[in-house]
Amino acid sequence: MSTTDPAVPADNAEYDPFEEFNRSAGIGVVENPYPMFAMVRAEHTIKREDLGEAMLADNDDAQLLSAGDMGDDVAVFTAFGFDAVQQVLKDGDTFSSAGYAEIMGPVFGHSILEMDEPEHHTYRGLVQQAFSRKAMEIWERDLVRGVVDEALDEIVDNKRGDLVRSLTFPFPVLVIARMLGLAPDDLPTFHRQAVEMISAGFEFDRAIAASNALSDYFGKIIAERRKNPSDDVISVLVRAELDGEHLDDAQICSFLKLLLPAGAETTYRSSSNLLYGLLTNPEQLAALTADRSLMPQAIEEGLRWEPPLLGIMRTATKDTVIDGMPIPAGSVVAVNIGSANHDERYWDNAEEFDLFRKPKQHIAFAWGPHMCLGLHLARMETRVALTQVLDRLPNLRIDPDMEPPYITGAIFRAPNNLHVVWD
Ligand code: HEM
Repeated sequence: MSTTDPAVPADNAEYDPFEEFNRSAGIGVVENPYPMFAMVRAEHTIKREDLGEAMLADNDDAQLLSAGDMGDDVAVFTAFGFDAVQQVLKDGDTFSSAGYAEIMGPVFGHSILEMDEPEHHTYRGLVQQAFSRKAMEIWERDLVRGVVDEALDEIVDNKRGDLVRSLTFPFPVLVIARMLGLAPDDLPTFHRQAVEMISAGFEFDRAIAASNALSDYFGKIIAERRKNPSDDVISVLVRAELDGEHLDDAQICSFLKLLLPAGAETTYRSSSNLLYGLLTNPEQLAALTADRSLMPQAIEEGLRWEPPLLGIMRTATKDTVIDGMPIPAGSVVAVNIGSANHDERYWDNAEEFDLFRKPKQHIAFAWGPHMCLGLHLARMETRVALTQVLDRLPNLRIDPDMEPPYITGAIFRAPNNLHVVWD
């Protein structure tokens, strides 16, 4: 074992985390929650939840926001309308992110997601130094194209395959691994532990074990990079400086761990959802194949139509009002990104995937101080992956001999598989 090898839990020989992740993602199938969101929106842009009910749905991943975790005396609201969601996300003073500490802290440590100002501003200023425009160009050229090409090399001659298992699920984690400059021999273990860690919702103990193993692993690499900096993300974070402030090892480590759910799981889901939208609308897939200048609007429409993450949450720091609804200090305010992205006040025929619609900013990457730090990376990764798919898998279509795919999930959404054929 090299000094940078992640520890391998002894009971893992037969454990396939993708199968486990996929199996668990299938529990409590929520195929299409959008008609229900539209019904709620017709009456309320923000709604007080009945405590005791799960807030957004009864799927297992709704436990992230289930009323049972909130304590009996906490009022819980969900914002469904675009303006209400935007108001919450824009105003970090009135709507704090600190509530994530209890839910995510045990696995991710004190991460950027749970920080409020001014701590958040300083920390974000430090970590975003790793996501420069120049870094993005280098990653696209030297890293993302290679990862996608290698994934497609494995399947291209088969003329059929599952694009989730072969491409969209593995590629974003592998991109992150290479951005971090991890040793190639470490990748299988890193990938498995990354998946185990993001499975905290249904395999909590295993997630904690994976998180601890990743802390040890990253700790050793951070120490190495402090001695011998290179040009990878960990080296940039080690050197990052803002007004005399630097990141300590624990801050770097929790950021690296957060990259796995924030950067890999979201991109896997969003690229799968976009492919699903195109495969189920073959005339739009054909138009995009013929005219690649449509790529940016196809990517944005995929994110609007089926955002990978539907719900995030805040806590009201003071008494306030949203759309006429009084919100007492201390209330939990969940925002429904999916519902906001389908708000009929902003989009006509919002339930349809239509890459030709007039572009308008959606909420998939959130808004305000915590707006996604990796949005340019996510867009670039999706563009590269989809371009290679269109170039290398001609006449792509849903496999008529397999069960048709569908998107599922109450808070995290994606198809469990995308069985396709090509010429
Ligand atoms: C399509 C893919 C993605 C989507 C839909 C997405 C969505 C989001 C959303 C909704 C938030 C706000 C969470 C909150 O405030 O509660 C967020 C934050 C964040 N995202 Fe993304 N994300 C994506 C890809 C990425 C990638 C590729 C990375 C980096 C590798 C990344 C890194 C982050 C980070 C670090 C934050 C925290 C920012 C902060 O708290 O200031 N994301 N993302």
